Amino acid sequence: MKIKRLGLKNYRNCTDIELVFPSAKTLIIGKNAQGKTNILESIFFLSDLKSPRTATISDLIQFEKSQFEINANIEKNNTDIELDYLYTSDKKRELKINKVKTTPKNFKLVAKTVLFSTKDMLLLRGSPEDRRNWLDRAISQIYPAYDERLSKYDKIRIQKNNLLKSEVIDKALYDIYNEQLVITGANIIFLRKKFLKEIEQIASVKHNTISESEKFTLSYTCPKDNIEDISEYLKLELRERKKEEFARKQSCVGPHRDDIIFKINGADATKFASQGQQRTLVLSLKLSELEIIKDKTGFYPILLLDDVLAELDDRRQNYLLKSIDKNTQTIITSVDTLLFEQEFLKDVIIYNIENGKISKQETL
Ligand SMILES: Nc1ncnc2c1ncn2[C@@H]1O[C@H](COP(=O)(O)OP(=O)(O)O)[C@@H](O)[C@H]1O
Ligand SMILES: [Mg+2]
Repeated sequence: MKIKRLGLKNYRNCTDIELVFPSAKTLIIGKNAQGKTNILESIFFLSDLKSPRTATISDLIQFEKSQFEINANIEKNNTDIELDYLYTSDKKRELKINKVKTTPKNFKLVAKTVLFSTKDMLLLRGSPEDRRNWLDRAISQIYPAYDERLSKYDKIRIQKNNLLKSEVIDKALYDIYNEQLVITGANIIFLRKKFLKEIEQIASVKHNTISESEKFTLSYTCPKDNIEDISEYLKLELRERKKEEFARKQSCVGPHRDDIIFKINGADATKFASQGQQRTLVLSLKLSELEIIKDKTGFYPILLLDDVLAELDDRRQNYLLKSIDKNTQTIITSVDTLLFEQEFLKDVIIYNIENGKISKQETL
């Protein structure tokens, strides 16, 4: 799967731009705050209908404008699919596939992306929420129904929180919410653990190639693996922490509180790994995500590398660039082209961006 063309109108600082992607590799070069990330964000948006940087879609509308548009041509199975997305300041949106109105669910199925940004480098240093977000996003790229499960779970959890905040708590209703949370929660935990097992297998091989003597493992806060055991575990936790939930007036048990534990040679990587070790781990995870999406969907996702090369040392940079399959379309942003070897720059399309305006670089 490839993006062949991208058009943005009033999207952040891009008033009206068009980019074509005739080569498998594209570099977008520009100084800070010129719009490099904005372009990658808009491609990510096509696959997720979410921004990795903001939860408020209207932030994407150019200041003082009333709407933004993303228009793209995606090539899949040798057919061209046109995507149109429009969002207005009164929160109306219009999604089209090949000029025909469609649902968000169908829209998101067309393009898949793996984004690797400097923020991901902080995955291990970040909060449990950052790690859950990474995991949830990766899973929803391969199981489109996962998002719905997450929203269902959240809806019940919010209702339960409201109940816990009310003056007189209806105990029967509290039990009903818990039963529903156990059913959807166990399902979410089950899929998360299944995914983590898969990615651990692939990523540990990659990790070992870069770091040789090191072994990394992944685990998840809930120790159980099958749905029945996870449900029992959740029920027990809910019973044991009922007092705490009433005292704190919020739900304290379930997948919204869980975390992923990364270990290198048996030691907790969030606490003990050096910056270099953490980067190797994240790099291995990102490349594995790519492989899993390819295996599950049959398509190579679009790889978006946002400013990450500068953060990696030569060895890791080389490993990254060499291990990207030639069938994977890669769009890379960087402050300059100095980081790249001549060999790599040979069949690359280079765009310069300045103040949201794009120009093609003809020769180096
Ligand atoms: N809604 C918006 N309307 C207009 N400009 C915006 C909007 N959101 C962000 N910007 C501008 O976009 C620029 C940042 O773009 P970004 O892609 O993050 O830069 P970089 O090239 O460093 O990756 C800033 O100049 C910021 O003011
Ligand atoms: Mg940026």
